[in-house]
Amino acid sequence: MNDYEPEGWPGLLLREGKTLLRVPKTVKEENLGPHSKKNSSVFYNPAMAGSRTRSVLLLNYAINSGIFGEGEVYALDGLAATGLRARRWLNELPLSSTNRLRVEMVDNNPESLLWAKKINEELPPINGTDNLNYTLGDLRKVVLNSGRHWVDIDPFGSPVPFIDSAIQSMARVGILEISATDSAALTGSSKNPLVRRYGARVKTDGLAQDSGLRVLLANVARIAAKYDRKIEPLMSIWDSHHLRISIKVTKSIEAANKVENSLGWRVYSPDEVEIASSVDPDLNFPLDGILPMNCFLPLYYPKNYNDNRFSGPLWTGAIGDSEVMSYFTTEEALRLCGPIYDENDIINSSHKDIERERKAIEKSVRNLMDESRAIDCDHHIVVDDLASWLKLGSPPSPRKMVERLENFGYRAALTHYGRPSFRTNATWEAIVECAMYFQPPI
Ligand SMILES: C[S@@+](CC[C@H](N)C(=O)[O-])C[C@H]1O[C@@H](n2cnc3c(N)ncnc32)[C@H](O)[C@@H]1O
Repeated sequence: MNDYEPEGWPGLLLREGKTLLRVPKTVKEENLGPHSKKNSSVFYNPAMAGSRTRSVLLLNYAINSGIFGEGEVYALDGLAATGLRARRWLNELPLSSTNRLRVEMVDNNPESLLWAKKINEELPPINGTDNLNYTLGDLRKVVLNSGRHWVDIDPFGSPVPFIDSAIQSMARVGILEISATDSAALTGSSKNPLVRRYGARVKTDGLAQDSGLRVLLANVARIAAKYDRKIEPLMSIWDSHHLRISIKVTKSIEAANKVENSLGWRVYSPDEVEIASSVDPDLNFPLDGILPMNCFLPLYYPKNYNDNRFSGPLWTGAIGDSEVMSYFTTEEALRLCGPIYDENDIINSSHKDIERERKAIEKSVRNLMDESRAIDCDHHIVVDDLASWLKLGSPPSPRKMVERLENFGYRAALTHYGRPSFRTNATWEAIVECAMYFQPPI
C-alpha cells in the first residue's frame, strides 16, 4: 500500500451501525443509488446498510455456533470498496469473536483501499486492526491464495464472474455471502441476461424476487457440486434493489452427487397432473375446483420450454435455516449494531438521529426471527396475489392469516419480503378457507 492521502480525504464522516466511516464527498452527493459511471471511483451505498448489519450478526452467530471449529477464522471482504463491511465486523462484533478473526479486504481499486486504510488508522475499530490485511488485486485470483471460512462477494451487478473461484477457495466448511444487483435479470424482467448468466427463466409475478433468489441458489449449488461441495441456504433476502444469499458450503462428494434433488421448477397455475407431481407431498387436491396458485416440480419433470408459466431451474428446498434465522432478533441487532446516544459524539448526532438509526437497524432484521418458524414451508403466499386468485375484494391481512392458520395447528409466519406475504405449511384448502373467512369472494 502507498501511504499518501487518498484524493478528497477526509471527505465526509458518517456512521453506519456503530461504526464511523469516511467517504469522498462526491459519493454522498451522487451515489445514493446503484453505481453509475458519473460517481466517484470509490463506492459507498447506504442502501446496503441492512445487508452489512445482517453480515455482522451472521458472522457472530457462525463463530459462536462452532461451525468453523475452535481455531482462527479466515474471512474475506471480497469486493471491499472502503472496507466498511469488514470494518463493521471488527468494530461491532464482541472481542471474543474478533479475537479469532483473520480479515482480508480485497479490491482492485487502489483509491478504495486507501480510504479503507486511512479510516482504520484515524479511527481504529474497537477491537483493533492487528488481524486485518489489505490486498490490491482481482478477487478472482486473490481468493485462491488460501482457504477461507468466510467469503463475501458484493459486486456491481452480477456475482457470476466471482462464484467459481470463491467456491474453490472455501475451507472444508465455510460461509459464502453473495449479493446480486442484477435484479432485473434474476427476477425475469431482463430475459436475455437471465438466460445467458443463469440459464434460467423467471415469471415476473409476485414471487419473482423469491424465484430470483432460488435461481441464484441453484446456480451456486451447481457450481459447488462441481467442486464436491454441497450448499445449505442460511438466509436469502430481497432488499429493495438487490438480492442476497448467505449459504453454508461443505465439502461432501456424497451430498454433491444429490444436488439435483434440491433443484426444479416453480409452475404458476398448475394443472392437476402437475400438482400431483409436486415436490410437496402434502399438497392437497383442491376443494371446489380452486387449484393452488403455484407449486414446485422436480427437475426431471417433462416441461414444454415455451410454457411461460415455468420459472427455473431453481432451488426448491428451504431458502433459509430456521436455527440461524431465529438468532436475528431486533434485540440482538441493536445490542451488536445499534448506536447509543453520546453527548461527546464526534458527529454530533441528536437523540432523534440515534433513534432513526436504531430504527433502521431494527428494520434490517424485521420478521426474520418470526419467519424462521416457517422458512422450510412450501407455501409462500403474497396476499395481493391470493386476493386476485380467489377474487376477493381486498387482500387478507397477512398477520391475521398467520394467526388463524396457527390456531388451526399449522406453522405460519410473516416474511421479510418486499411484498406483504406469509409462509406456511398449511394445506392449500386451509389457506383458502382462512382467506374466505376474512372476506367472502365478491
Ligand atoms: C459494490 S462495490 C462493493 C461495496 C462494498 N462491499 C460495501 O459494502 O461497501 C464493488 C467493489 O468491487 C470492486 N471490484 C470490481 N471488480 C473487481 C475485481 N475483479 N476484483 C476486485 N475488486 C473488484 C470495485 O472497485 C468496487 O469497490
